[in-house]
Order: sequence, then C-alpha cells, then structure tokens
Amino acid sequence: MPTVLLLNGPNLNLLGTREPEIYGSTTLMEIEEQVSSVLREHKIKCETFQSNSEGEIIDWLQKWRDADFLLLNPGALTHTSVGLRDTVLAIEIPFLEIHLSNVHQREKFRHHSYFSDIAIGSLVGLGIKGYLLATQFAVDYLEQKEKSATND
Ligand code: DQA
Repeated sequence: MPTVLLLNGPNLNLLGTREPEIYGSTTLMEIEEQVSSVLREHKIKCETFQSNSEGEIIDWLQKWRDADFLLLNPGALTHTSVGLRDTVLAIEIPFLEIHLSNVHQREKFRHHSYFSDIAIGSLVGLGIKGYLLATQFAVDYLEQKEKSATND
C-alpha cells in the first residue's frame, strides 16, 4: 500500500483560532481527517505530523524517507529553512507545497519560498481546498505510477 505524508510546520497546530481572517476556521485535525479519509478511499496510507520544531520535522521526514508522496505546508519554515529544503532534496520524495493563504499578496518576506522551485507544484491561497486538491493530485500521481509499473 503506498504511503502519503501530510506534514505541517510551525503554528499550524493553532489553525481554527489563529488569525481566522487569514487562515480560516478549520482545525488541523479536521484537515488531517479529510485528507486521510480521501486517501483511505483509494487504499493509500496517510501519515500525518505537525511540529513547531524544525529539528523534529527534519527527523520525522528522514524516518519516513521511503514514503511515496509528500503534502507539505512548511509554515514559516517556507521562508527560512535551508535545512528542511536539504532534507526534502535528500529523501527525493515527490511533493506539493501548500499554503492556506496567498503568500504573494502578503508581506514581502513571504514571497520567497525555499520549496517552490523543487516541488512538483504549489497551491497557495486556496484555503483548505488547497490540501484537498493536492490530495487528489497525489492519488492520480500514484495511480499513474502504479499503472506504468504494471505495464513495464
Ligand atoms: C502559511 C504561510 C506562511 O507564510 C506562514 O508563516 C504560515 C502559514 C500558509 O499556510 O498560508 O505559518 O504556510
């Protein structure tokens, strides 16, 4: 059974109460449940993790380096973390970058991402729909991969 990782960075544990005018009112647990449930329907295992600590996030990703796809919202680490970028490059898991808010409409320091140029794609400003669209993309990607493997 393929495995998809759903990884959220600093402060995303506060979703639901954190600046709801920017991030909406859905909690992280609700997002994790919705993503996991879509993946389950497609017989894909989902592993979720959130941490406020860069080191814990890097350790967790290294532990799951054999997973098949990564849905990543690095939170503020998007704009700061060469360390996390290096991990993502090292483990070579295809991934999508997700941001609830449209980072390009916000402060200048949010315009640069250490992940956009190495991701398959980025979903920004779509709220929780970004997570669900990214999940659907992961399902299609893995189904396609499975098909090409069986045709080989
Ligand atoms: C965020 C955008 C980041 O700039 C911010 O630091 C976050 C959340 C988003 O989902 O919109 O923590 O990644």
